[in-house]
Amino acid sequence: MHVAGKDIELSKSLKYKHSILIVDDEDSILNAFKRMLADEEYDVHTVNNGLEGLYNLRTTKNPYSLIISDQRMPEMSGVQFFAQAKDLFPDAVRILLTGYADSGAIIDAINKGGVHLYFTKPWREEEVLLHIKQSLSKVEILAENKRLIELIKTKNKELMELNKTLEKKAHDRTNDLLAQTEKLKDSYKRSQLILDGIVKTLSKIVETRDPYTSGHEDQVAKIACRIAKEMKLTEDQVSSIHIAATLHDIGKISVPSEILTKPSILSNLEREIIKTHCKVANDILVNIEFPYPVAEIIYQHHERMDGSGYPRGLKGEDIALEARIIGVADVIDAMASYRPYRPALGVDAAIEEIVKFRGVTYDSSVVDACLKVYKQDAYFQV
Ligand SMILES: [Fe+2]
Repeated sequence: MHVAGKDIELSKSLKYKHSILIVDDEDSILNAFKRMLADEEYDVHTVNNGLEGLYNLRTTKNPYSLIISDQRMPEMSGVQFFAQAKDLFPDAVRILLTGYADSGAIIDAINKGGVHLYFTKPWREEEVLLHIKQSLSKVEILAENKRLIELIKTKNKELMELNKTLEKKAHDRTNDLLAQTEKLKDSYKRSQLILDGIVKTLSKIVETRDPYTSGHEDQVAKIACRIAKEMKLTEDQVSSIHIAATLHDIGKISVPSEILTKPSILSNLEREIIKTHCKVANDILVNIEFPYPVAEIIYQHHERMDGSGYPRGLKGEDIALEARIIGVADVIDAMASYRPYRPALGVDAAIEEIVKFRGVTYDSSVVDACLKVYKQDAYFQV
């Protein structure tokens, strides 16, 4: 179809079957519309005046997509009719038919009747058909928009509900995890206390067999931990040093107490028996699941950097750093303390000893850290 110089596609089908109400007091006009729309898939209703039109709008079961009304009618004008019709079917397109170019009526129709279009009689049939089809397309687009907006609203609401549910679940889960974390922390603390208790108990058992070395293991643990902290070792390493130092002579449990407390110089055989305490300690502790390699550290605490130590003659970096630290701390406390076969030599003599053999039997960095700690506190108290 060609209207106003433009090709208009009227064959494009509408999605729905639309209801159209036409109000005109002239039957010839109504018949003209019926004939004009006969080939289209519309549900066309006609009435002769505004009152009938309003009655029809109030009682119809099918919503109207399009309402066409004449302006000049007895009893009720088109503008008056549309003023009420727009409230009954606000989404319908409203078209006014005017018999002459009455600009006042047209302005009223737009302002009061919410009229979208007007046709001035006589009109061109194809132009009217085109506008009807365009209006109905517009109704469909608006209805589709409305449907989509409602759909978006519904989906948004569903998403918000889902979000709330997820937030609550996340909140509950977080609280559960926090509660579980607290329980684990408590459980870990209890385990640590039990471990400390067991370590102290084992240490006491050895001390009861050799009262001359009472407190030696505690003191070695203090010195070794001070050196480890000075060397900026990790918390785990310091903890492993603490446990290993506290238990480092546990292997002496297998050494006869006469040898341990002998008030004179030991024979070679007695020395060899004492030396077994490293291996015995390892055998005792190796099957305990300590969080650190405690058994191996104790096994190595008499090894020396130049390989002159025992029981395996390990050298340098083959000796665990923790064992090198405990080895130095052990020498410091042993020399500083009284022994049944000699008087206490004092801390200064012990320091002299480790300085003399720095880099030879003792790890240089361990000796340096030990000296720093000694300068801060000659008694190596924590
Ligand atoms: Fe030892």
